[in-house]
Amino acid sequence: MAELTYYPICPVEDLPSGERLFIDLDDEPVVIFNLAGDYYAIADLCTHDMGSLGEGEVEGHQIICPRHGARFDIRTGEVLSLPAVRDVPAYPVRVVAGMVEIGVEE
Ligand code: FES
Repeated sequence: MAELTYYPICPVEDLPSGERLFIDLDDEPVVIFNLAGDYYAIADLCTHDMGSLGEGEVEGHQIICPRHGARFDIRTGEVLSLPAVRDVPAYPVRVVAGMVEIGVEE
């Protein structure tokens, strides 16, 4: 089973509730969300047509792709509606000593 390694991203103050942060993780675009104090990270790449997903509107725990409207669960990356049919990768996020950290399988 792959080991999870956590990498520090930013102080918690830099990602307040309702905000999102775009990062590159090994050249993969990733967006990290703070949803009312809970942190989640998913790939910033819609599985329908590889559009940027992270700028989409957020409704509860769902994000709506700004290009054609596919919905994904921010907590899990699970696809919830067409035209996308495949999940987006999701990454574990934790806070340690005031730093937001993202976990990557290695
Ligand atoms: S690129 Fe996201 S729904 Fe088409």
